[in-house]
This record gives sequence, structure tokens and C-alpha cells, in this order.
Amino acid sequence: MNTTGENPVPLLTARDLVKTYGRSEALRGASVGLDAGEILAVTGTSGSGKSTLLHCLAGIVRPDAGSVAYGGERLDELPEKRLSELRRTEFGVVFQFGQLIPELTAVDNVALPLLLAGLSRADAHTRAGEWLERFGVRGQAGLRPGEMSGGQAQRTALARALITGPKVVFADEPTGALDSLATEQVMTALVHTAREAGTAVLLITHDAQVAAYADREVRMADGAVAPVGVTA
Ligand SMILES: Nc1ncnc2c1ncn2[C@@H]1O[C@H](COP(=O)(O)OP(=O)(O)OP(=O)(O)O)[C@@H](O)[C@H]1O
Ligand SMILES: [Mg+2]
Repeated sequence: MNTTGENPVPLLTARDLVKTYGRSEALRGASVGLDAGEILAVTGTSGSGKSTLLHCLAGIVRPDAGSVAYGGERLDELPEKRLSELRRTEFGVVFQFGQLIPELTAVDNVALPLLLAGLSRADAHTRAGEWLERFGVRGQAGLRPGEMSGGQAQRTALARALITGPKVVFADEPTGALDSLATEQVMTALVHTAREAGTAVLLITHDAQVAAYADREVRMADGAVAPVGVTA
């Protein structure tokens, strides 16, 4: 909030999003803005459209109606090639249900975005090890996702989302499988990293302990978004 009381132009803006799956209306006119460097919590009951909103904002799902603007670009209108480039270079995504690559070890999963960006294997591995360390799972570097606990897999997925230094991180229930102490450790690491790099974070959570780390919280109900108020 600046001194005139006006908000800066958001980095990412969704307006009046509509998305229907068969007879299920996941989004019914959802609007939300995310500022550069802002940590925004999205809460709401199960089925209210939180994950669908995140997928539309991250350019993974195209809305049926409404717009998603990122910088000067309309994500809802971009060709798939440019969308995937944006996802690779500017966005980091942690999906609600993990989506680590099952055949790869933790360190290989985390190193993958750097290998795709052209880093050498040795450099990518070194950096991946450092990121696993930040999230307290360096000891699991050699394990495959099937050999990790849910919480260890979530931390590995967070490390993978952050390793490229994205402008925006989309995290769908990133602490859903963690106990309260581990939640605190992971949120501290996530917030610290985001603040240090000026990363904006869209954080879906049903946990008030997690929402308290955000600058702002909005709540979804029936496919639409309502403000909750400033929490920090
Ligand atoms: N790929 C899909 N195919 C069919 N229906 C879907 C799909 N994705 C979402 N839906 C439906 O859209 C609605 C919103 O789903 P969404 O996953 O966005 O909710 P959510 O708020 O993330 O819920 P939760 O808290 O349980 O994760 C639900 O009724 C869901 O069944
Ligand atoms: Mg969800």
C-alpha cells in the first residue's frame, strides 16, 4: 500500500474467470491480483475452486472466460509455446499432489529445471543439494519419491519450484502433509527465500498457521474470491 492509498499495478491479475468442468462450475467470476514480491494466501473450503484458480493464473489451464494478465501479456490468449516458456523461466509451481518424477531421486528432481536451463550436471547437482538443505531434506537426496514421506516429497517439490529463481511461485497446499513444527520450518524457509529474491507467492492453504505468514489473505467460495483483510 503506498502513501496515496492506491495499490501498485499487480504483477499478475485475473479478472472474472469462469471455468466449467462438465456440470461443475469450478470458477464463476473469480478475480484476484498479485503484486510483485507479495505473499498472498488463498483459503476456502474444499471444492471452492482454489486449485483451478492457481492453474489458470500459472497458465496451466485456460479459463473459459475472463482474462489473466502477467506483465504485459494475456496468458489466456498466449500460444502454448510461449506459455510453456513462461512457466519454465518465470514461474515455479508446487502442485497439490506432488508430481515429482518417480524415477528420479530427490536431488535429480530438484536439479532438473537447471538442466533444462542448460547448466552442467555437476553445477545443477551442487545447487540442488543446497536447496534440499534449505528445506531440511538433504539427507533424502538419494531417495526416489516413492521412498520419501509425504512431507519430504513436498519439501523436495518446493526446492524444485524455487531453484530457478522464479518471479512467481504457485504453491498448492505445500504444507498439507507436514506437522506443525515442519510447517513452521518450511514456511520460514519459503518466506525467507521469497523476501530475499523478491518472489511473489500465491499460497493455497486451509491452515491458519500458514495463512499467517502471508501479507494478505483472500478466501474462495463457490468459484469466486473475497478479501479477508490485511494479516501483516
Ligand atoms: N479436471 C477436473 N475435472 C473435473 N472437475 C474438476 C476438475 N478440476 C476441478 N474440478 C471440479 O471443480 C471444482 C473446484 O475444484 P478445485 O480443485 O479447484 O477445488 P479446491 O478449492 O482446490 O478444493 P480442495 O481444497 O479440495 O483442493 C470441484 O467441484 C471439482 O470437482
Ligand atoms: Mg485444491
